[in-house]
Amino acid sequence: MVTKKEMKIALPSTAASPSLLNKVDNRTARIGVIGLGYVGLPLTLLFSEERFAVTGFDVDEKKVSTLNAGGSYIVRIPATEIEAAQRSGFRATADYAQIAQMDVIIICVPTPLTEFHEPDLSYIRDTAEAIAPHLHEGQLVILESTTYPGTTEEVLIPILEEDNAHGLRAARDASANGFYVAFSPEREDPGNDTVARRDLPKVIGGAGPVALELASAVYSSIFNRTIPVSTPATAEMTKLLENIYRCVNIALVNELKQLCQRMGIDIFEVIDAAKTKPFGFQAFYPGPGLGGHCIPIDPFYLSWKAKQFDFRTRFIELAGEVNTAMPYYVIEQTAAALNEQAKALKNSKILVLGMSYKRDVDDLRESPSLTIIELLRKRGAVVSYNDPYFPYVGHGRHYHLDMRSVPLDDLGQYDCVLIVTDHSDYDYARIVRESRLVVDTRNATKGIASDNVVLC
Ligand SMILES: NC(=O)c1ccc[n+]([C@@H]2O[C@H](COP(=O)([O-])OP(=O)(O)OC[C@H]3O[C@@H](n4cnc5c(N)ncnc54)[C@H](O)[C@@H]3O)[C@@H](O)[C@H]2O)c1
Repeated sequence: MVTKKEMKIALPSTAASPSLLNKVDNRTARIGVIGLGYVGLPLTLLFSEERFAVTGFDVDEKKVSTLNAGGSYIVRIPATEIEAAQRSGFRATADYAQIAQMDVIIICVPTPLTEFHEPDLSYIRDTAEAIAPHLHEGQLVILESTTYPGTTEEVLIPILEEDNAHGLRAARDASANGFYVAFSPEREDPGNDTVARRDLPKVIGGAGPVALELASAVYSSIFNRTIPVSTPATAEMTKLLENIYRCVNIALVNELKQLCQRMGIDIFEVIDAAKTKPFGFQAFYPGPGLGGHCIPIDPFYLSWKAKQFDFRTRFIELAGEVNTAMPYYVIEQTAAALNEQAKALKNSKILVLGMSYKRDVDDLRESPSLTIIELLRKRGAVVSYNDPYFPYVGHGRHYHLDMRSVPLDDLGQYDCVLIVTDHSDYDYARIVRESRLVVDTRNATKGIASDNVVLC
């Protein structure tokens, strides 16, 4: 039961760890960020901009050496930003012994699903086991990886307590000694520059009031607004609610898109009209299926946890069902469009435009284009792809492509050009003009009059 008392959140005023508060205040706190990927690296840069000396930890030695050489492996992060961070003291390492020198440790490692669609917490566990032997009193450990409610209390803290060299416990209040733990979800939306990163309100749940106060102080130094909540589980659930909301609404428009197609109505025109309503409606757009490390995965963390409470999360299951079926719908629509031209999918030459899971990002994880290409190949189509962000796509956990991006010339050689990801660099007018048939899953050809375009 949630009591009213528990729901009142006020940051306590405590004398605990004044040294860490002072260090944050005067920017001498040593920040360790674990996992230098799409989340950890930008976070590192934010701290560096505020003149904190950050140590980045990653098990990928290639990433470590690229960063230490002043390079970047994320397209939207220029090398100049890494060099600027180095001037503030940023170094990358694979050596966990350096954890002992950190005041604050922030964990940003992956949280995928296993092949049985269950939470894979192995990265969090491995990280906790690697940190624990180097933990010392007064350190603050914050988990940022998206996960189910309960992970911080039930998985992270027990490992840190059991495996640390000094028998330390997570300190729950000002009178206790030990280390401090909090959960604060990442709200990064790659490719979306409409909100500056530091303007994203930062939700924080502490394992105890002191941990909350310390984590709030740390994040207040780089974010303009912090949102304290009562427990780590509340913060974990907040992140899942945000992503489930998105997943369910995308499923809704994906379903309505299929109905509109049968009724001869343009769903994109409908959404554009509906979003003129100044209240009570937020526009979501249909597409070829869900991609990225978050929306296709995170909701299932909650479904899995819900079973422990004998509860079925039906919205999540249904949304998953609709969204997972979208690549199959794209294949059927492509086959139907070819059929109109008296062609079969088998042996048709198809050019897939865009491999990444969304516009203008260099991220392939869970991208629907991977499934679409595999399905097209299964049906006997001769498939090529173009993506400025991916010159080559090899093998991954769920795909085996081994393909190279082809140049965007001689579009007339293809029976169909299938737009899966609407990168801004593409010249859609030219694509429509030079292609025999365009199947557009993103409304990228909006406003370009032509009878060789099929919206799907
Ligand atoms: N990518 C996003 O847009 C986004 C947005 C919000 C939240 N998240 C969440 O943030 C977390 C991280 O996601 P990401 O996209 O940055 O992942 P990522 O794969 O880009 O980066 C994770 C990094 O962790 C490193 N790593 C793995 N195990 C490690 C270990 N034991 N010790 C040190 N480093 C280790 C990997 O080498 C990699 O560099 C996930 O839980 C994800 O759900 C991601």
